Amino acid sequence: MPTKEKIEQSLEEVLVPGVMRNLVKLNLIREIVISDQKVDITLASAALNPSAQDWLKAKVSDTIGQLPGVNQANVNFVQATPKEINAVDYVIAVMSGKGGVGKSLVAALLGIALAHQGKEVGILDADVTGPSIPKIFGLSSVRPSASETGILPVLSKLGISIMSINLLLEHEDDAVIWRGPIISKVIQQFWEDVLWGKLDYLIVDLPPGTADAPLTVMQTLPVSGAVIVLSPQELAAMVVRKAVRMAKQMNVPILGVVENMSYLTLPDSGKRLELFGKSKGKEMAETAGAPLLAQIPIDPKLAQLCDEGKIERYSSEVFDSLSQNFIKVLPLKAKT
Ligand SMILES: Nc1ncnc2c1ncn2[C@@H]1O[C@H](COP(=O)(O)OP(=O)(O)OP(=O)(O)O)[C@@H](O)[C@H]1O
Ligand SMILES: [Mg+2]
Repeated sequence: MPTKEKIEQSLEEVLVPGVMRNLVKLNLIREIVISDQKVDITLASAALNPSAQDWLKAKVSDTIGQLPGVNQANVNFVQATPKEINAVDYVIAVMSGKGGVGKSLVAALLGIALAHQGKEVGILDADVTGPSIPKIFGLSSVRPSASETGILPVLSKLGISIMSINLLLEHEDDAVIWRGPIISKVIQQFWEDVLWGKLDYLIVDLPPGTADAPLTVMQTLPVSGAVIVLSPQELAAMVVRKAVRMAKQMNVPILGVVENMSYLTLPDSGKRLELFGKSKGKEMAETAGAPLLAQIPIDPKLAQLCDEGKIERYSSEVFDSLSQNFIKVLPLKAKT
């Protein structure tokens, strides 16, 4: 008879319809009982619609039935909510003092950096009134599958699990004009009703600013650390101080600071032009008491990839050093 480990291994090959992550990564296996030549498997039904459940039942019993020594494989479902199933190690929030500084872009790059490291990553787009994550990943036309118990995230090409209000709106350009309480309800639902499964890191793209909206998110989610994004245009010191104060109030450590649109490299001379004024990255990192993770230049290639929904193809020296510096400041799970 196969061991439990062997059975789990085979179940890693079963991709859940609608999200295409496997049963183990989605944390859907509740119980495996081996007796004589029989295996009983209990799966959680969270966020799976009836047809996905039927498909999985057949697929799992077929997969396990083929293992040597197994005569019979039974599959049962138990009710469970995504909240009961989800096992997210760390939530990292990306915040900015004002809008349009490239916060979503940086959130995306941080997620991609972790995915390149082989981490299981999700991105929760908490910018409910200005969602832009699906677009830069080229997922605007994708619709998530859902059931009465929850929603499945959408998977990016690199395997990042993504949830955004944009994926649920009929038209990508539909304006979201909800008021505060509804927005915080949506974010709570993105945390509790989305089947994230097992994730090493969940990156949260916060709404811009230091007003109510980002605060609500930090109160709703168990945030382990925050990354602050700024641009040299900002009347930065005050904005950063506000962001730092907010994070401190919430007991969230600032992991690092990213300065975006720092400079432009002139194509002919290779000279750096500080288009938006002198870089304040170092100074602001000091104000925040956290390392400066990167100074990202204005890069036409980056803008183009964002527009085309191909952000995952971006590569540059700056991105490499952002990745390395980010990984250094991340909370790590103690090995058990
Ligand atoms: N370093 C950069 N080089 C080139 N283009 C950039 C850069 N940073 C941002 N952009 C462009 O600016 C757009 C806006 O960036 P982004 O959506 O990340 O800003 P944001 O801070 O999240 O804005 P909002 O406050 O509206 O959420 C991107 O889609 C991208 O095209
Ligand atoms: Mg944004």
